Amino acid sequence: MSPEQVQQLVQEIERKDLSTAAHTWRVVLYTRAMLEEFGVEHGVIDLVTQAAALHDIGKVVIPDAILQKPGKLSDEEYEIIKLHPVAGYARMLKMGVSEEPILNLVRYHHERWDGLGYPFQAKGEEIPIGARVFAVIDAFDAMTSVRPYRSELGDRAAERALLELQAGMGTRYWSEGVEAFTDLFHTGRLDYILHYFNDEVPVPAFAAARREEFDAIKRRVTRGD
Ligand SMILES: [Fe+2]
Repeated sequence: MSPEQVQQLVQEIERKDLSTAAHTWRVVLYTRAMLEEFGVEHGVIDLVTQAAALHDIGKVVIPDAILQKPGKLSDEEYEIIKLHPVAGYARMLKMGVSEEPILNLVRYHHERWDGLGYPFQAKGEEIPIGARVFAVIDAFDAMTSVRPYRSELGDRAAERALLELQAGMGTRYWSEGVEAFTDLFHTGRLDYILHYFNDEVPVPAFAAARREEFDAIKRRVTRGD
């Protein structure tokens, strides 16, 4: 994708919903850290990182009344939310995007290892590896970010989220992805991401120290420099 295309889409996501935007940047950072840990080559890392930034682009067409509804969604509303991977994929195709790692992640990021995800009910290794890894990261971030109903945050929330991921190994999540993420988390290298944009959490000093690194990644994803 051209840097202009990426930038345009990222800005659209940020305009739509700021909490989605914060989520976006945390998952970008987690994704990059995971791929570096796996020793994936740089060209692929850049593509998958772009894909992580754009994964929820399909939500741009979902009405705010549903996306930002404070209470529980009705079955019908949930069905509408579940359209966003396909909406995002259609948007990518319309823009002429042809890079498989990007298309795959947008399309398959809500599939589950056991085939009970959406929208295709793909299972196991039918799900492209980038999307399998990303599903773990996306779930972890959802479980550790600021929500009105969550009382626990930060490190305690992270420990609880890791237990949830482990409980879902082989059903919801790809086991090797969960193991790799858990190991990486325990090195402490992801701590600064956990605290980014989680406004009710005081940003620790080490997060501030890594802001430069974060800004560089954000520039790289949006501008391709
Ligand atoms: Fe999504």
